[in-house]
Amino acid sequence: MVEDPAPFSPVELEWLHKSTFVRAVECHDQLASTNDRAMEWAAAEDLPLPALIVARSQTAGRGRGGNHWWSREGSLTFSLVLEPQAWGTVGADWPKVSLTVGLAVCLALEPLARSCRPKLKWPNDVYLEDRKICGVLIEVPQRAAGRVVIGIGINVNNSFDAAPPPQRQTAVSLSQVTGQTHRLASILQAVLVHLDEQLSVLAACPSDLLERWAAYCMLRDRRIVWDRGVETHTGLCLGIDAQGALLLKTDDAIHAIHGGVVRPL
Ligand code: BTN
Repeated sequence: MVEDPAPFSPVELEWLHKSTFVRAVECHDQLASTNDRAMEWAAAEDLPLPALIVARSQTAGRGRGGNHWWSREGSLTFSLVLEPQAWGTVGADWPKVSLTVGLAVCLALEPLARSCRPKLKWPNDVYLEDRKICGVLIEVPQRAAGRVVIGIGINVNNSFDAAPPPQRQTAVSLSQVTGQTHRLASILQAVLVHLDEQLSVLAACPSDLLERWAAYCMLRDRRIVWDRGVETHTGLCLGIDAQGALLLKTDDAIHAIHGGVVRPL
C-alpha cells in the first residue's frame, strides 16, 4: 500500500482494504489523472487485483470523448484496475460492465440522496435532479490483456462556484442536494461493495442486471438526440434492450445505440 499525503486516513484505507474487494491501493494527494496512473499500473503483471488508485485532486482529469473532467477538492476521483473475468464475465458481455458501473454508483448514492432518486443516463452517467453528479470513463490498457480501467468521478462535497459555465449549470454535488458534508471513504466503500455485487449479478443473470438498470433509466419515454459524429437522429427513447443498447424510435426505424452521445431534448 503506497501512502502519499492522502485524501483518506490510514484507518480509512485499512477499512477499505478489509471491507471491499480491493487488493492493492494507491492514494495520492494530487495526480494528473487517476486513469492515467491506472493505465500505467495495469501493465504490471504482478499487480494484485482489483487495484484502486484514489486522488484528492486531479490536474488533468479526463472524461469521455476527449473531454476534460473538471473537479475540485471535495469530489471523489478514483480508478480501478480489474479483470471482469474474475466474476465470470466473458468478453462479449464487457459492454454491460459499463452499465454495471453506473448502476453501482446509483445504488451507493440512493440512500444518501434523501427523497431525490438518482437516475442513469445511458450508458453510465448518474444524475440527481436532472444534473450530472457522476461520470465514468472505462478504458482498456494495451499491454494488459483481460484487464479494464474504470475511472469514476463523483461530485460529493465540491462546489461549482469556480467551475466553467457549462458545469455550473449542468452539474451538481451530493452536498448541494442534501445540505450536508459526506464522508468520501464511506461513499467509495459503498460503490465498491455494490460494484462487486452487481458484477456477480451480471455474470450469473445478465437479464436481472439489465432490469435493475432500466428501473433507473433517465431517458426512457423522453425525446432524445443521438449524436453519431457524422449525423444526428432525434426520436423517442424506448429504454434498453437485452444487450444493453439504448433504443431510439425515429420516424422510420428503431435504432439500437451502442456508441456516440445521447442527450435529452
Ligand atoms: C465523463 O463523464 O465524461 C467521464 C468522467 C470520468 C472522470 C473520472 S475522475 C477519475 C478518473 N480519472 C480521470 O481522469 N477520469 C476519471
